Amino acid sequence: MNKSADKSKKNPEAVSKEENAKAILELKGKKYELDILHASMGPDVIDVQNFYRRTGCFTYDPGYTSTASCESKITFIDGEKGILLYRGYPIEQLAEYGDYLETCYLLLYGDLPTQAERRRFDYEITHHTMVHEQMRAFFQGFRRDAHPMAIMVAVVGALSSFYHDSTDINDPHQREVATRRMIAKIPTLSAMAYKYSLGQPFIYPRNDLDYASNFLHMCFSVPSEEYKVNPVLARAMDRIFILHADHEQNASTSTVRLAGSSGANPFACIAAGIASLWGPAHGGANEAALNMLEEIGTPENIPKYIARAKDRNDPFRLMGFGHRVYKNYDPRARIMQRTAHEVLAEVGDPNDPLLEVAHELEQIALKDEYFLERKLYPNIDFYSGITLRALGFPTSMFTVLFALARTVGWIAHWREMIADPHRRIGRPRQLYTGPVLRDYVPMSKRGTGLGDGIHNH
Ligand code: CMC
Repeated sequence: MNKSADKSKKNPEAVSKEENAKAILELKGKKYELDILHASMGPDVIDVQNFYRRTGCFTYDPGYTSTASCESKITFIDGEKGILLYRGYPIEQLAEYGDYLETCYLLLYGDLPTQAERRRFDYEITHHTMVHEQMRAFFQGFRRDAHPMAIMVAVVGALSSFYHDSTDINDPHQREVATRRMIAKIPTLSAMAYKYSLGQPFIYPRNDLDYASNFLHMCFSVPSEEYKVNPVLARAMDRIFILHADHEQNASTSTVRLAGSSGANPFACIAAGIASLWGPAHGGANEAALNMLEEIGTPENIPKYIARAKDRNDPFRLMGFGHRVYKNYDPRARIMQRTAHEVLAEVGDPNDPLLEVAHELEQIALKDEYFLERKLYPNIDFYSGITLRALGFPTSMFTVLFALARTVGWIAHWREMIADPHRRIGRPRQLYTGPVLRDYVPMSKRGTGLGDGIHNH
């Protein structure tokens, strides 16, 4: 094997610890040595970049359960222990002591900001919150009952047509401008999508408010009366944004990376991420979890739903339970549970029957053999639906709020990928099991399709 050619695609930091460590693979009577790349935390990886060239075989891993699709320094998850770190900092500490914009800075630039950096960053985000006035006209094209996520996919993609001066991905300055524009404008667009669905006038951002308060203001104030942001709710909103800010290589982040690997502009890439997030197995789960709690209604009905979740012949799953990576309690779920109680104590009914159903369901599932065996614990979405509803949002807005918060994570990963000198277009391979080579059959020789055994589509 040509080692010097292989090395050119590796990050030297990742191979330096035990240069000589190898994995040995035996295939069709031949032995292959594969390099092992070392992680600073978590599992090491076997380098298969040249596997096909050397062996003539692909590796097979649908759903990427054992495949590291990239190298990253942003977020670390230990699913077995229930640990989530942003740039090394535990999510619990960031949620308790930090705020969302500081978390954004951390995710984007790798370290917590100094006081001066923080002031500058806040100023720049706050002073880019307005969107081009022509965007209002763009919104008018949607049906008045359009789902806000449908609007988000479209308007975020459309930003590339409004902000041409920040779409050159090879210019670091333009990447920086696009980053700030996106973080600053996504709350404005999200609030506009919400207001449009209500038929209410759009509310302009206010630069004197913090990020979360400004968002609540744009969602809930109306021109005809004064709206005072409740600081308890603003803090809860901010914490929800922190909890959703990043989650390493999940479906939507991988979508953003894959879209970006072709050189697509950042606004188009984030629109692709929003589309991926929309699915019920990903960002749509909080909406599905709340709908499920409403459907269950009272604690007496819980056993019936637990039985359905366990029945192999019933497609029903307990929404808000289970996670591809966490095989332990989702650390974000604990913080979200506390936030739910704080919000309900402030504005809702702490004796809300849905909270009672959620609590009972959690207790029963945590003791049930089926869930224990499969390591199915509550995830963040289990409690976020209840919290968002108490904050005043309809279920159709839940995934939009997730997209708003995750935008910084998507951008941080996009920036990391673009800045990587070894960037290549993402191009997975496949295990082909379709028809083998065959010759075209002229129409006159294919029969009529009427009872002659040929499928009539
Ligand atoms: N209820 C009942 N059974 C479940 C559930 C559930 N929520 N989740 C997994 N299982 C069972 C599944 O039937 C399978 O059982 P068996 O081995 O007997 O066939 C086993 O557990 C493993 O399931 P899987 O589908 O192979 O697991 P996965 O890692 O592919 O799926 C998941 C992860 C999140 C898609 C899945 O747990 C699920 O659908 N949960 C409900 C939806 C949900 O809450 N999603 C939010 C995820 S957190 C938000 C985010 O980070 O995006």
